[in-house]
Amino acid sequence: MAVDVILGLQWGDEGKGKIVDVLAPNYDIVARFQGGPNAGHTLKFDGNKFVLHTIPSGVFRADLINLIGNGVVIDPITLEKEMQNLDKVGVDYKNRLLVSKKAHLIMPTHRYLDAAKEAAKGKEKIGSTLRGIGPTYMDKTGRNGLRIGDITTPHFKQKYQSLKDKHLGLMKLYPAIDFDLEAEEAKWLESLKNLTSLPFVDGEYFLNDAIKSGKKVLAEGAQGSMLDIDFGTYPFVTSSNTITAGVCTGLGIAPSQIGEVIGISKAYCTRVGAGPFPTELNDEVGEFLRKEGAEFGATTGRPRRCGWIDIPQLKYTIMLNGVTQIVITKIDVLDKFDTLQVGTAYEVNGEKTSALPYDLCGYEVKAVYEAQAGWKTDLTQVQSYEDLPDNAKSYIQHLEQLLEVPISIVSVGPNRKQLVYKENTVAV
Ligand code: GDP
Ligand code: IMO
Ligand code: MG
Repeated sequence: MAVDVILGLQWGDEGKGKIVDVLAPNYDIVARFQGGPNAGHTLKFDGNKFVLHTIPSGVFRADLINLIGNGVVIDPITLEKEMQNLDKVGVDYKNRLLVSKKAHLIMPTHRYLDAAKEAAKGKEKIGSTLRGIGPTYMDKTGRNGLRIGDITTPHFKQKYQSLKDKHLGLMKLYPAIDFDLEAEEAKWLESLKNLTSLPFVDGEYFLNDAIKSGKKVLAEGAQGSMLDIDFGTYPFVTSSNTITAGVCTGLGIAPSQIGEVIGISKAYCTRVGAGPFPTELNDEVGEFLRKEGAEFGATTGRPRRCGWIDIPQLKYTIMLNGVTQIVITKIDVLDKFDTLQVGTAYEVNGEKTSALPYDLCGYEVKAVYEAQAGWKTDLTQVQSYEDLPDNAKSYIQHLEQLLEVPISIVSVGPNRKQLVYKENTVAV
C-alpha cells in the first residue's frame, strides 16, 4: 500500500499544510487530490511563512515531486502568484511541480458567477471563498468544463469562448455585481503562459507507474470532511469530495493502494463561512480562542468561528475516512484555560444521541459537554511527549479513548519544528 493520506477531520484549516510539510520527507511524491484556491495551507519554517493554495505542501522539500491531481480545479492567476512567491525565495520547483492534464480550469467567469450567485442568496449565502470553485465543479459534472490538457489543443480558444458565452447567458439570471471581467480575462489569458511552463502529465499513469517502481505517495487533502459535498453540512459545503474516497477519483488510485489515513484535528474546532456548528462559542471564550489561535482565514482573512472539540463530529469523519491515526494540532492555543470542555454528545430535539442527524441545519442541536482540567503551561517549547504536563497528556489520552484511534503527533505551535511524536506513533 503505497499511498498515505492526510486530510482534515473538521471544517478545514486543521493545519494540514504544516503536517504534510513535516511528513513529506518520508515520501517521493506529494499529490493534491481535490479542491482549488479556496484552500490556504500555511507553512512556517526558518522565519518564513508561506500560504499555498494550489501547490502541494511538499514543494519545500528538495527532490520531492509535487503533483496537482485531476480532482483539483486550477486558477492560473493564483497559481502564478504562488510560483512567484517560491521564485522570490529561490525554491527550485520547475521540474518537480507537475499538473494532471485532467484537472479542470477555473475561468474568470466562474469567479464572476460564484460572486453573483452568492450575492443573490443574500442571508442564505454559503460564505464561499468566491474563488469560482462551485461553478467550475458544476461545469465538470455538467460535462462542459475546460481541462488543463485542452490548453494545448487547437480548439482551446473556441472552447473557452463558447463556455464564456454560456456563463454570460447565465449571469442574466442574477442581479448585476461589480466585476471587471475584461481586466480579469486579460490577466487570466496572460497567466496561461506561465501555466504551460509546467509539465502536464497523465497523472493517473504517472502515479501508478511510480507506485509500481516502489515510490511512496502522500495524498494531500484540502478543506475538511465536514465540507464534503456528500457527507458535509449540506448545502454549507464545498463542491468536491474531501474524504479518503476523493483520493481515488482525484488521483486515479485504486482503493487497495491506500495505506495510512492520517486525520488532522485541532484540539478545539473552527469553521469559516456559514452553516451549522454545534459546539460553537458565541461568547468571550470563542473570542479568546480566535485571538489565541490567530483564527483568521489563510485565503480570505475572514475571522473563523471557534468552539470546543466535538467528539460525535470527529467520530463521524473518522468513520467516513477510515482514519488510522490522528494528528492533534494547536493544542498550545488551550494553554491558558483553567478548564476545557469536550463535546461528547448531542441533544437533538431534546433526545441525547452520539450520531449526527441527517441534516444538522434542520434540527435543534445542542452539544453535551464533559469538563477536563487545563494545564496552564506554555506548551510551545515542549519537544517530547513525555515533557507535556500531566493534564495535557490526560486531555490527549481522553480524546484517544473517546475517538478510538491512536493519536500519533501533537502539534504545539505553527513552526515546522513545533510538534511532539507520541510513543505509539504508527510508522509512516
Ligand atoms: P490548513 O488549511 O489545514 O493547512 O490550515 P491553515 O494553514 O489554514 O490554518 C492553520 C493555522 O494554524 C495556520 O496559521 C498555521 O500556521 C497555524 N498552526 C498550525 N499548527 C499549529 C499549532 O500547533 N499551533 C498554533 N498555534 N498554530 C498552528
Ligand atoms: P483549507 O484547505 C476552511 C469553506 C468556505 C465556505 C465553504 C464553501 O484551507 O482547509 P467554496 O469556496 O469552496 O465554495 O466555499 O467552504 N471553505 C473552507 N473553509 N478551509 C478551507 O480550505 C476551505 N475551503 C472552503 O469558507 O464556507
Ligand atoms: Mg486553510
